[in-house]
Order: sequence, then structure tokens, then C-alpha cells
Amino acid sequence: MTEAWRPDDDDDQQRRGASGPVRVRVPAKVNLHLGVGPLRRDGYHELNTVYHAISIYDELTARRGDTLTLTMEGEGAGELALDDTNLAIRAAHALAGYAGVPPHARLHLRKQIPLAGGLAGGSADAAAALVACDALWGTGLSRDELAGIAADLGSDVPFLIHGGTALGTGRGEAVSPVLARPTSWHWVVAIADGGLSTPAAYAELDRLRDAGAAGPPLGSTDGLFAALRQRDPRVLAAALGNDLQDAALAMRPSLAGTLKAGEAAGALAGIVSGSGPTCVFLATNADDAERIAAELATAGVCRQARTAHGPVAGARIG
Ligand code: C5P
Repeated sequence: MTEAWRPDDDDDQQRRGASGPVRVRVPAKVNLHLGVGPLRRDGYHELNTVYHAISIYDELTARRGDTLTLTMEGEGAGELALDDTNLAIRAAHALAGYAGVPPHARLHLRKQIPLAGGLAGGSADAAAALVACDALWGTGLSRDELAGIAADLGSDVPFLIHGGTALGTGRGEAVSPVLARPTSWHWVVAIADGGLSTPAAYAELDRLRDAGAAGPPLGSTDGLFAALRQRDPRVLAAALGNDLQDAALAMRPSLAGTLKAGEAAGALAGIVSGSGPTCVFLATNADDAERIAAELATAGVCRQARTAHGPVAGARIG
């Protein structure tokens, strides 16, 4: 009889997965440049975007269980569905299906990223669930394999596996990391009351464009990349842009007041984040960001103003 091949201890551990809880921290994203092209036949728009991960985090803990369950606390608790429609649950099912393991885990989310805020909170949770369940179940996939599964869950999910600053093309799911000398940028994040629907924002942009009422499309990301290389916040401020901003402003006109208040408080520039309604402002440095956040909080132009820095890593254990 041939002796069965035995993996060494490390491989065995990886195969069996973690016995204790696995905790994953995942950041929010902003788009430094969000160029929206034409509507494709599959219902998505062709994008030319520069993603940037910032230091506002959701945390997902995965524990062993006999079924797949999700609980949550923090931003959006009581509003977010925790059933099979939740992107974190869908992510766990997708990974289990891919790896051929039972989808058994108890997931718990501690959310700080607002729902439907234009910061990719739902996508972040899906990315966190992929990384956490991969470790819990010992499926041992590479980051690129996880990003491949992520692409089927949502356009922003692959970026949140990687983090940092990255070019996004296709519908946003094709991600190429930007290898830049490390510079930390300081942001003020003005979180609005209530969310905006991403599909509705894209539809509104199409409507504005058909009516000739949208601004000219942003086009290439070259200017933004050149600005990132210069490492000067004033240069980066001048290069920020978002084609969805007109749509978000049309749907939520009060955001114009938020943007104005941030710039009046000394921000170098302010833009709507993704499909909104969160607005993000670039500050000269960390102290300035704190001061601007305090002014925005007292001006009553947002529900909450926070500071953040970027780029930061994507979904990571620990
Ligand atoms: O990919 P995700 O599920 O996050 O996209 C949500 C919706 O946003 C899509 O159904 C589509 O209406 C819109 N969208 C788009 N073009 C993109 C990304 C998203 O029109 N590139």
C-alpha cells in the first residue's frame, strides 16, 4: 500500500483554516478621477477612474458556524438587509462555490462606512468577507483569485481587495495598482443624511447628457497621474474630478452648499465621492483637515465630518 502524501504543518494549517475568529479591516474608497463613458449594452458604463482607499474602515469578523449568518452594528444597523441579498453573504457564497467548501460561517460587521454614501461601503464588506472566509476556511486563494471572484459581486469590489491608489477600467472591475512613491494625502469626509442610489446617479447622468445639461466628460486620467507624482496637494486638488458630480448635485442640490462650505473653510478642493452624497475635501495637511472638519461639523452642512488619510491597504486580516 502506498503511503498517503502528507502536507507539512503549514500547508495543513492553511488547508484546515483558522480555528479562532478571523478579523478583517477594510477601507472606504473615493474616486480621485471618475470618468464615465457611454452606457454599454450590459447596463454598465465604461469607466476610466482612479480609486483611492482612505482610512475609514468597516471591520468584519468571521467565526466557525454550522450555517451562514450575518449580524451587524454601527452605521446603517437596522436598515441594511442581513439576508442572502447582503453583499457580504453573497461574497461568502461565491467563495464557497468557487472553492467547493460548505458556506458555513458566522459573520459580524462593525460598520463605520455609511450606506449608499458613494464610499463603496457595501463593496468593502464583500471584499472583507472574501478575505475573512478565505482564511477561516483555509481555501488559500491568492489576492488576484479573490479579486476575480470579487468582480462578479460588484464593480468596486476588486479594488477593495487591493487598496492603495489604482486605475480602474472596464466597468471599474479591472484594477491596476499605481506604483507611486508613498505620499499621504489628508482628506475631510462630509457624510450626508441618507444615501443616494448608484444606478439612479448613473441614469441621471445619462439624462443630463442627453439633454446637453452635463459638463464635458473628464476623459483621460493622465493629468491626475501626473498630479499624484508631483506630491503637492495643490496640484492634486486642481486635478480632482468626477463626471457623476453633476448627477449627484441634480439629485441632491444641497450638496452644492456642502462643497462651498468646505472650500470656504480652507479645503484645497472638494468633490462628490463616487455617486454621492458624501463629499470629500483635500486639505494641505493633517492639522488643516482637523480644522476644516470641525468647521463643517458646526456649519450644519452634513451629518458628520471626519478626517481620513490615504492611500491605505485594502481588506486585510488583523
Ligand atoms: O457594479 P455595481 O453592482 O456596484 O453597480 C451598481 C449599479 O451602478 C449598476 O447596476 C449600474 O446601474 C451602475 N453602474 C454603471 N456603470 C458602472 C458601474 C455601475 O452604470 N461602471
